[in-house]
Amino acid sequence: MIQLFNVSKSFASSVALHEVNLKIRKGEFVFISGPSGAGKTTLLRLMFGALRPTSGQILIDRINLNRVSNNRLDHLRRRMGFVFQDFKLLQRNTIAQNVAIALEVMGERAGVIRKKTRQMLRAVGLEKKQHAFPLQLSGGEQQRVAIARAIINNPMILLADEPTGNLDPEITKGIMLLFRTINLRGTTVVIATHSNELLRDTDQRIIHLQRGKLV
Ligand SMILES: Nc1ncnc2c1ncn2[C@@H]1O[C@H](COP(=O)(O)OP(=O)(O)OP(=O)(O)O)[C@@H](O)[C@H]1O
Ligand SMILES: [Mg+2]
Repeated sequence: MIQLFNVSKSFASSVALHEVNLKIRKGEFVFISGPSGAGKTTLLRLMFGALRPTSGQILIDRINLNRVSNNRLDHLRRRMGFVFQDFKLLQRNTIAQNVAIALEVMGERAGVIRKKTRQMLRAVGLEKKQHAFPLQLSGGEQQRVAIARAIINNPMILLADEPTGNLDPEITKGIMLLFRTINLRGTTVVIATHSNELLRDTDQRIIHLQRGKLV
């Protein structure tokens, strides 16, 4: 489902990733771990096609991101969910509108959008906040909105960047269960985290990054 061949990414002054080779199969649930600055976010953004590698090849569902047209990349991204480390919520839109947006771009019917949005907000424990705006929520609540938005349209791949960084242990458990559930329904799940607690309690595959290299 996700394949990286000798992928490197450099920024002006630094090498964020160095010759990464990686294969994640359809339906897998994997963690990407590593200290701050190891390259986790960079790796996820490359998989999402939001960044281009300096060298190497990335294949998503057998599509080579180096060669894909913008049109096809847009289409591919609609089948992926991304939970951004900094949430990236639309501040002028309500919570419900933020979550519904992924279905709106798919051209889903209004009734279906309303129903699924309500279900999704309930799943992350925010049904009572649906009319609030992002800045009226706590960091952990905003993070759960970002999670709801990323998974509402049943993505083929979920890329989640430190998705429980702002959540307490109890809510973290609930969110991890939610990720397991969508994984069991077929979504390939990739979670970047430096949380040892998250990694300690799992029997899933863990990919370790250190200074831009897989170890
Ligand atoms: N847009 C950018 N411009 C310049 N350097 C960048 C950019 N994005 C990332 N880097 C550098 O690449 C390296 C890896 O960054 P990245 O954000 O991938 O780390 P991370 O593992 O996600 O860290 P954290 O756990 O703190 O989120 C860092 O040294 C960072 O400074
Ligand atoms: Mg990061």
